[in-house]
Amino acid sequence: MSRLDSMLRRLTAQRDGLNWAVYQISGMAGDVLDMGLGNGRTYDHLREILPDRRIWVMDRVLQCHPSSTPPAEDFLQGEAEPMLQKLAEGGPRIAFGHYDFGRGVKEEDVAEAARLSPLIAQVLLPGGLLISGQPLVGFEQISGPDTIAPDRYLFYRA
Ligand SMILES: C[S@@+](CC[C@H](N)C(=O)[O-])C[C@H]1O[C@@H](n2cnc3c(N)ncnc32)[C@H](O)[C@@H]1O
Repeated sequence: MSRLDSMLRRLTAQRDGLNWAVYQISGMAGDVLDMGLGNGRTYDHLREILPDRRIWVMDRVLQCHPSSTPPAEDFLQGEAEPMLQKLAEGGPRIAFGHYDFGRGVKEEDVAEAARLSPLIAQVLLPGGLLISGQPLVGFEQISGPDTIAPDRYLFYRA
């Protein structure tokens, strides 16, 4: 498969997973957390599909498209570990987390996701939903939407 085809499949799975999550959390109060602002594409999509939720977004750098710049009070700029610890200070508040950290080096990305998993668990509400491009550890893995091939995107409950 070409890298273009692979990227298209990943982004389609990401979009379908985010849309699916809206219905999964519809009966649950709580905020949303996008881990990895990057260009701001998933953050912008989350704003569109979850307009009534507070959406926290995390990244070590602010380098998104200007139209996707988050409000300062919702942007946690810094390394993931201290930012997750900061978010956890007020107790668990996240009903839905999207994990999109990583830089495309599989072994490093998998190791980082495993290292951050216990910190992510601290910010999630009981029964909260997580979707991720990398395997996370310590959560119950669940099935996602039928349109996404197993293991292309991963789905978890806290
Ligand atoms: C794949 S990009 C995110 C793409 C974004 N969701 C989008 O749709 O445009 C990953 C981002 O995660 C950030 N990142 C990766 N590891 C991080 C860490 N440990 N702490 C903070 N930010 C991190 C990188 O700076 C990068 O901007």
